[in-house]
Formats: sequence, structure tokens, C-alpha cells
Amino acid sequence: MNRIISPSMLSADFGHLSEDIQMINRSAAEWLHVDVMDGVFVPNISFGFPIMEVLKKQCTKPLDVHLMITHPERYVERFADAGASSIGFHVEAVDDPRPILEMIRKKGCKTCLTINPDIAVDRLLPYVAEVDMVLLMSVLAGYGGQTFITETFPRLKQVRKFIDENGLSTLIEIDGGVNANNAQQLWDSGADVLVAGSAVFKAKDPEREIVRLKCLD
Ligand code: DX5
Ligand code: ZN
Repeated sequence: MNRIISPSMLSADFGHLSEDIQMINRSAAEWLHVDVMDGVFVPNISFGFPIMEVLKKQCTKPLDVHLMITHPERYVERFADAGASSIGFHVEAVDDPRPILEMIRKKGCKTCLTINPDIAVDRLLPYVAEVDMVLLMSVLAGYGGQTFITETFPRLKQVRKFIDENGLSTLIEIDGGVNANNAQQLWDSGADVLVAGSAVFKAKDPEREIVRLKCLD
């Protein structure tokens, strides 16, 4: 199983965005994670289409868009047009994720369904077979730099077991408080993709940190 690292743009230096994007392009990171917050679904506002335009022009890695917004159905097509490779939204933000997943699929993007740590993973299981990826938040969505919630491990193992027992190929992405201290245990527990914001962008040597997070030595 490949270990995918998706550094989160949220922790980049927006005063030197191009430099940070070039670092990602040079690095061993497979994807770039793009956190979109609306100030309603989460108590914080991040960025939207103007930043997506810059990323689309300058980033050579697939853009892994994480929508932390209400009414994702209003915006998924625009994010697809803006260059998203995969688009994820929160299962607890919508009544029925299926029509929105179909909108994403029709635009040729990979589908991802996301869940906050305070919502039972049972909410996600009915859709696991239908999506390319599930994203288990390991902090409450809204801010970078929070502490990893260790209750994520049993949730991750439960979803891993469900995927394996049903012979599915759905990827599991973990997002929030991921760093070199918990990465190995996350891979061992069945994660396929690790998102890391502060661990990468606040590191002295971000490129080295990306390699370190893969725990392949
Ligand atoms: C949190 C975001 C995360 C966050 C990760 O709401 O979805 O992607 O940027 O940042 P760190 O790795 O600093 O927790
Ligand atoms: Zn995220």
C-alpha cells in the first residue's frame, strides 16, 4: 500500500505562497491538501477560489480539496472547474451525500466523504463502498495546529476493518494534528493518506519532514 502525504496549505506562509508551492512541487508529497472553511460549518474562514486559481497555475501535485462548508452542493462544481483533483465534504453537513457525490463524479473528480471526531463513524459506513476516499478528522475541523485526538485510532481501525472485510479499495485519509510522533501508528492502523499542516510548514526543513512522515526507513 502506498503512503500518501498531503501537506495542508492552511499552514503555508501566504506572504510567500509561490515559494511554498514550489517546495511542495519539489518534495516527495503526493498531493496538496486545500482546506476551505466558510465560517458557518466551522468557526473559521480560510480561503476560496482566488487561492485555488494560484494553486491550479503553480502546483504540479493533485489538489485534495477539503470543504468545511454548509451546502457543498452549491460549490463542488466550481471547485472542480478551479482545478480540484478530489473533493471532500462532511457527511454531517448534509442530509443526503449521494447526489453531491454524483455531482463530483460527473465533473471527473475523485469523491471523498469526511467526518468530524465527535460524529459516530457509523454515519460514514453506508457510503464507504461508493466513494474513492473517506477522511477521518483527528481534530475538530476548523483550525490548524490542534492536538491529535487519540480516539482516532479505534475509529480508523473500525473503518479499515470494514474496508478490508468488504474487499473495498476506498482510501482512508487522516487529518489533524498528524506529526512524526503519531505517523507510524497511523500507517500501522490502516491509514493510506496523512494530511499534515503545521508538522510540515513549521518544520525547519519541510521537505525532509514530508519524507520523515512516510516512516519508510
Ligand atoms: C483542520 C484542517 C486540517 C488542518 C491540519 O480543520 O482540516 O487540514 O489544516 O493542520 P495540522 O496538521 O496543523 O493539524
Ligand atoms: Zn483538512
